[in-house]
Amino acid sequence: MKWYTAGSALLLSLQAAAWDYSTYSSMGFQPPKLEVNKTGTTDPGYIFLGPRGGVQTAGSAALIYDDAGNLVYEGPEEVTANFKVQKLDGEDVITFWAGDMMDVGYGYGSVHILDNTYKEIYTVTLTGAFVTPDNSQKDSYCDLHESEITPSGTIICTAYNVTQHDLTSINGTSSSYMLDSQFHEIDIKTNQVLYSWSALDHEDQIPLTTSHQGLGKDVGTQQSDPYDAYHINAIAPTNHGYMISLRHMWSGYYLAQNGSVMWTVDGEDGGDFKQINNPRFSWQHDIRVYNETDSGLIVNLFNNANTPTDQESETTGLSMAIDLTKKTVTGLRSLTDPNDPIHSVSQGSYQLLDEVDSHVFMGYGSISKVKEFDGDGNVVFSAQFGDDNAVASYRGFRCQWAATPFWNPSVVVSKTDSNITVYMSWNGATEYDNWVVYSASDNTTSSTNTKIGSADRAGFETSVTVSIPTEEYIQVVAQQGDNVLGTSEFVTF
Ligand SMILES: *[C@@H]1O[C@H](CO)[C@@H](O)[C@H](O)[C@H]1NC(C)=O
Ligand SMILES: *[C@@H]1O[C@H](CO)[C@@H](O)[C@H](O)[C@H]1NC(C)=O
Ligand SMILES: *[C@@H]1O[C@H](CO)[C@@H](O)[C@H](O)[C@H]1NC(C)=O
Ligand SMILES: *[C@@H]1O[C@H](CO)[C@@H](O)[C@H](O)[C@H]1NC(C)=O
Ligand SMILES: *[C@@H]1O[C@H](CO)[C@@H](O)[C@H](O)[C@H]1NC(C)=O
Ligand SMILES: *[C@@H]1O[C@H](CO)[C@@H](O)[C@H](O)[C@H]1NC(C)=O
Ligand SMILES: *[C@@H]1O[C@H](CO)[C@@H](O)[C@H](O)[C@H]1NC(C)=O
Repeated sequence: MKWYTAGSALLLSLQAAAWDYSTYSSMGFQPPKLEVNKTGTTDPGYIFLGPRGGVQTAGSAALIYDDAGNLVYEGPEEVTANFKVQKLDGEDVITFWAGDMMDVGYGYGSVHILDNTYKEIYTVTLTGAFVTPDNSQKDSYCDLHESEITPSGTIICTAYNVTQHDLTSINGTSSSYMLDSQFHEIDIKTNQVLYSWSALDHEDQIPLTTSHQGLGKDVGTQQSDPYDAYHINAIAPTNHGYMISLRHMWSGYYLAQNGSVMWTVDGEDGGDFKQINNPRFSWQHDIRVYNETDSGLIVNLFNNANTPTDQESETTGLSMAIDLTKKTVTGLRSLTDPNDPIHSVSQGSYQLLDEVDSHVFMGYGSISKVKEFDGDGNVVFSAQFGDDNAVASYRGFRCQWAATPFWNPSVVVSKTDSNITVYMSWNGATEYDNWVVYSASDNTTSSTNTKIGSADRAGFETSVTVSIPTEEYIQVVAQQGDNVLGTSEFVTF
């Protein structure tokens, strides 16, 4: 076994950056430009990102883009993680974590659940006797790594707790400070914790001596610098319990409902399984389970194969078949872009888009890129939203999403000698395809409007230039065909 001294800055090591950001007249947003190379047929859906880092904070928000790189939605300016569409009570909802992200790669925050009008319908919080490195109290202790809604309508969140523990087996002290890796299953509607699991409760099955995260010099000697032995970063609900990913163990663990480890798939030596066709992985993220039966299952994950202080190999998207009868783990797919080898030192995601066409969408974490692969492993879509290792999105997804916001379209009018230009947008709206511009003599809804212009939707913001109307008020309407979906306030010019 190799031992590595961990640097800090697991999430990001900021470098000078000069990425381009978009601006609009009708909204004050400055999202990073999404540079897109589409080289094949993609699956349906929008791109969901939560960028963080870089030279400006303006684009740090939950962001949705279309395949052409147009902004579709920008949420409030805040650090987010795991922004995606999930099903709750049979409806599509968007979910994301927001809160304080620590440089060493965990955080304290809440999970926000929004309906298809962007109304926040639930806010998931985790409270309890958690200990933080600086002893500060938080409103909620949900960690950023996981916010998975289960088929039974609960949500699973990770959590990190500072505790003191005997680390003499790995050259620490008898009361070193370390991070316990935990997860909690929470009732979304009441925030009641229904189930809790802690790695330290299973030290007999997950020994600290198997961590690849070396106990660096002085690490663990103070509460402010706890040793991160496990680094929990993904939980998938399974038929009989949970499948979890512990990045610093290079392993996935299948847990029974009582929390016991039933089996381990280890990225280095297979764990409980004989390795066939190179199912090796290290420093992984985003473990997911498919087609589980009592004799086997498919396990997918984002194989970073890198950490700030250790480069094992190229980052891959890895799919494996585990045979519980034959006790084998077989590599099925290993996705890489031959034209763009990536070494992602932290974060990242692997999303199987469709079990029939087998497209996979990957977010590269500390490398500010997302890629989509087809069933043959060819890259069909590649996009970048910042400078590598300067801007990161914890995960990146393609999600089908249809939304009509509860807020009105925005409109701004600018005037020249003979013309006015009307700038229109409707943040988050996916269903409209054209705009109509009206003038009116007063600003009441009973006013008779005069149609003075129209335009097909042109990305996030559409503009129309017309000669100066005689009436002083302007109002714009977003339509799908002839069907009015949204109406702006009246504005003057
Ligand atoms: C966190 O660790 C502290 C110190 O060991 C312990 O008292 C507390 O119960 C732990 N909290 C949780 C939620 O496990
Ligand atoms: C503990 O320290 C000793 C002496 O420095 C070293 O030989 C050994 O490899 C260390 N063990 C671990 C687990 O770090
Ligand atoms: C936990 O549950 C599993 C599966 O039912 C069982 O095999 C195991 O013995 C249980 N472990 C403990 C400690 O109860
Ligand atoms: C699950 O099994 C079905 C039926 O055999 C297959 O079409 C599908 O691709 C499998 N899913 C995965 C992730 O392998
Ligand atoms: C897109 O293609 C151009 C030209 O080959 C390349 O320079 C750029 O890095 C590519 N960007 C992405 C995100 O793949
Ligand atoms: C005003 O609009 C007309 C018609 O769209 C256009 O031909 C003309 O160039 C515009 N003038 C200015 C000053 O923008
Ligand atoms: C509507 O117009 C009236 C009269 O010009 C003005 O006083 C009022 O502020 C306007 N209201 C809005 C919402 O623009």
